[in-house]
Amino acid sequence: MKFTSQIIQYVRYYLRGETIYRIHSPIGFSLIESIFRRPGNSKFSDLESMRQELLISKEEIANIDLGAGKSKRNSATVRVERLAKTSISNISQCQQLYNLCQWQDPRTVLELGTSLGFSSSYLQLAQPNARLLTIEGNPHLADRAESMHRKIFKDHLPEIYRGDFSEVLPQLLPTIDNLDLVFIDGNHTFEATSHYLESIKPVLSVKSMLILHDIYWSTEMTKAWEFAKQMGSNKMTIDLFHMGIVLFHPDIYKTEHLTIVPYWMKPWKIGLFARSVH
Ligand SMILES: C[S@@+](CC[C@H](N)C(=O)[O-])C[C@H]1O[C@@H](n2cnc3c(N)ncnc32)[C@H](O)[C@@H]1O
Repeated sequence: MKFTSQIIQYVRYYLRGETIYRIHSPIGFSLIESIFRRPGNSKFSDLESMRQELLISKEEIANIDLGAGKSKRNSATVRVERLAKTSISNISQCQQLYNLCQWQDPRTVLELGTSLGFSSSYLQLAQPNARLLTIEGNPHLADRAESMHRKIFKDHLPEIYRGDFSEVLPQLLPTIDNLDLVFIDGNHTFEATSHYLESIKPVLSVKSMLILHDIYWSTEMTKAWEFAKQMGSNKMTIDLFHMGIVLFHPDIYKTEHLTIVPYWMKPWKIGLFARSVH
């Protein structure tokens, strides 16, 4: 999506956006409150010092792109500093993933797109006993992620699967009974993303959460987000601009589509001044 289209999408998101104080549903309130919570930074200090090292690393690794950029004329190698700057979740996005994972309390988590291993580390830190499966098509990135996981986690590590999502998923999904949390962060095309969503659907738990990253990165991803919003019956969807969440929960009886901005972005919509949405 062109930069100007992204700005237009952002303005639309902002104008539609509600703050937490307009949310009446207890599940919605509790989930949204948890997203914007600031978890103490001490548990992420090792990870974040590794990020600082990668942000200045001139090391080059093979640039194997199985995703939306594969048809573009990419160079054979890419600098680690560039990947760390441009293609992984930043600290605030990682902390939101951590919060979402703690709220969801999953036993099994699936991530598409490991890259350097940051989002998978945050998800695993949030739920140290959960089984976390993450797939990465670039084996050099998978190796780097694995060695970082070994430094962060003593025993229970995320499981990294190497290969194209479309080849690994059909082998992996039959081994999983119930998926409680899915984070899709790779191959940002409508066709691929909708296909992954369809394949994952049969193994989702009754209480499950889908998180789609970069839902306004391209018109195709916005279409994929609309597709995800139509999946299943009673659910709550939350548009946070940089990511979209679909929550299936046995206590949700009516579908609700919410667009949420942090309360400081609309300070007149806080506390006493706000009317809750029923
Ligand atoms: C945006 S990055 C993931 C960032 C990571 N989730 C984080 O926030 O730390 C997307 C990753 O997905 C991988 N990828 C893209 N398309 C893929 C495909 N079809 N199969 C396997 N991996 C793919 C890329 O190699 C890239 O490392």
